[in-house]
Amino acid sequence: MTTARAYPNIALVKYWGKADEDLILPAAGSLSMTLDDYSTTTTVTLVDGEDEFRLNDVEQLGRSADRVTTFLELVRSYARVVGLDTAHYSARVVSVNEGPTAAGMASSASGFAALAVAASAAYGLRMDTRELSRLARRGSGSASRSLIDRFAVWYPGDDESSYAEQIEAPDMAMVSVPVATGKKAVSSRSGMVATQTTSPFYHAWVSSTAVTLRDMIGACAAGDFTRIGELSENHAIRMHAVIAASQPSIRYLTPASIAIFDEIAAMRADGIEAYATADAGPNVFAVTLPELAESVADRLRPLATGETKILRPGPGARLIGDDE
Ligand code: PMV
Repeated sequence: MTTARAYPNIALVKYWGKADEDLILPAAGSLSMTLDDYSTTTTVTLVDGEDEFRLNDVEQLGRSADRVTTFLELVRSYARVVGLDTAHYSARVVSVNEGPTAAGMASSASGFAALAVAASAAYGLRMDTRELSRLARRGSGSASRSLIDRFAVWYPGDDESSYAEQIEAPDMAMVSVPVATGKKAVSSRSGMVATQTTSPFYHAWVSSTAVTLRDMIGACAAGDFTRIGELSENHAIRMHAVIAASQPSIRYLTPASIAIFDEIAAMRADGIEAYATADAGPNVFAVTLPELAESVADRLRPLATGETKILRPGPGARLIGDDE
């Protein structure tokens, strides 16, 4: 029985679109901050019989259980390659999400990062962080970045070269502004396919993302928080624009989300440095400096329907002991 804990990550340069659907290779690179809250804790026990998946005390059936089984099959295939007898066993997977699930709060990133670490250890595989990042990628692309402490770049490439690794960035904070905690209407996976196949702006999105990533890496190296913030807000808006241009249109942001983007812009006009970002859901995150985070949270709290949290750069996915 092995237990791992992982945290979600929020991208400053976003991943939206695949070069390979089966291997989950991204069309462009991305860059994120791993959070220090909303963890997923996953325990894997090898068993006889069938794979089982419990999430937040509820037995999972259908699509989410199938995704876990497909992932476990991959782990078992690795175990077979190195001749481990464990490959004959099925697995019982028990996960607990501290944050909302499938609501654009990156629960799939923490989920598959924790599963990659716990399942590989349970089956007796010895994998380094790079190998674990590649493995987690096969569960959910953004999970590749949750292996990494603090800030991560995930490279495009082939199965071998597409993994995430750490990058230095200036200290910062994110303020979560939840406006909906229900399951989103269109999953990232199907939203990406729709964007790739029907949005006329998709190619411009992919090519401009490579430029933004290069600029963002430069801004991180220079410790230029203002530039990081400007690039990340603009990139988030571009992602929601390319998605909205799909036919039929997909919109993850709601009027409540837009009101938060507006309030963050108003804060900047008042001299408070904060920038808005949102993943494939209506919940918004304000990117700010640690010393401003309390006042940013105070100002955004009236616009949130759930708890506003101050998030800081957090640890990559790892095994934990029984007492943690
Ligand atoms: O890893 P997925 O398939 O859940 O896709 C995540 C996509 C975004 O969260 C919208 C952007 C990103 O880079 O995390």
